[in-house]
Amino acid sequence: MLRPTRDPAEARFEESLRPRRLADYIGQDKVTANLRVFIAATLARGQALDHVLLFGPPGLGKTTLAHIIANELGVPLQVTSGPVLERAGDLAAILTNLQPHTVLFVDEIHRMAPTVAEILYPALEDFTLDLVVGQGPAARTMRLPLPPFTLVGATTRAGLLPPPLRDRFGIVHRLDFYETASLTTIVRNSATVLGATITDDGAQEIARRSRGTPRIANRLLRRVRDFAHVREEDTITLDTARFGLERLEVDAFGLDELDRRLLSTLIEHYAGGPVGLKALSATLGEDEGTLEDLYEPFLLQAGFLQRTPRGRVVTVRARRHLGYPSPSEEQGELFGSSGS
Ligand SMILES: Nc1ncnc2c1ncn2[C@@H]1O[C@H](COP(=O)(O)OP(=O)(O)OP(=O)(O)O)[C@@H](O)[C@H]1O
Ligand SMILES: [Mg+2]
Repeated sequence: MLRPTRDPAEARFEESLRPRRLADYIGQDKVTANLRVFIAATLARGQALDHVLLFGPPGLGKTTLAHIIANELGVPLQVTSGPVLERAGDLAAILTNLQPHTVLFVDEIHRMAPTVAEILYPALEDFTLDLVVGQGPAARTMRLPLPPFTLVGATTRAGLLPPPLRDRFGIVHRLDFYETASLTTIVRNSATVLGATITDDGAQEIARRSRGTPRIANRLLRRVRDFAHVREEDTITLDTARFGLERLEVDAFGLDELDRRLLSTLIEHYAGGPVGLKALSATLGEDEGTLEDLYEPFLLQAGFLQRTPRGRVVTVRARRHLGYPSPSEEQGELFGSSGS
């Protein structure tokens, strides 16, 4: 449910729901307010916008925002990603061919190779490219001027960026999980794009269970619409939403099967923690990066999980939600002291 999709139909669907203008980008008010100012100032000066770093959990709208920035500036957008740029030459080729003021969007910028990042530093700072020509004693560096451009970098792991790279972004914004009200609006808008009718409480129910994430809200909407279709209902109501979400095993807090397995594994195998990420990932049979990037951020922010120096610890809230006794209740049972 959470992972960025490789299914082409799903990807087209996401694409079709992407707002094109800043005014249609719901929520993240602080981010959009700031960007609006910087974009207006840039347009007034006729320069390239300062480099922008967007970070935050997957599915919150980083790629969408990069497209919107280029759109609002009325400049071309070129898209690439950290892992695609294998050699410094790959990036040099892109940079030397940019139209002036282009937005160069580098997704997963934390996965860029250090040798590639190095040629980016002077490019970001003074729009120059330092090329080494020749080999051995005859080698010399050549300085090439570049057209002014705007780098928009996106990452789920800002902590993994080398500090010299991070420092070269003039505009840095963290995207946070969305409020239910914003997600409800997103669900209603997406329903319109899909040609589906949804009641306000139906939209709100999907929003509440979407882990604060527009991508999940849109996917749940599409699945719930399928249930409405099968039940021969013209309108997605609260009842349809509840029915569909239950079938999809999305609970009242939006936790899915792996979220619950992660928490119950912590409780049952590790007495609630603390436990290291490595051990947890081995027990669950899930990749460490997947747990850390896709699952933990929401569990942490929703208060189901805590991170301590000694490892992950499950909270009383999580125990209650999953129907486990809290540690003090357990002790009470053990010593038969519940009534005394
Ligand atoms: N503020 C928003 N308003 C409306 N829809 C949004 C908003 N943010 C994201 N979406 C929708 O959510 C989906 C996912 O957004 P997007 O692909 O931009 O996320 P992302 O942060 O780039 O994720 P990833 O880290 O996986 O690349 C898009 O289809 C988009 O339509
Ligand atoms: Mg993206």
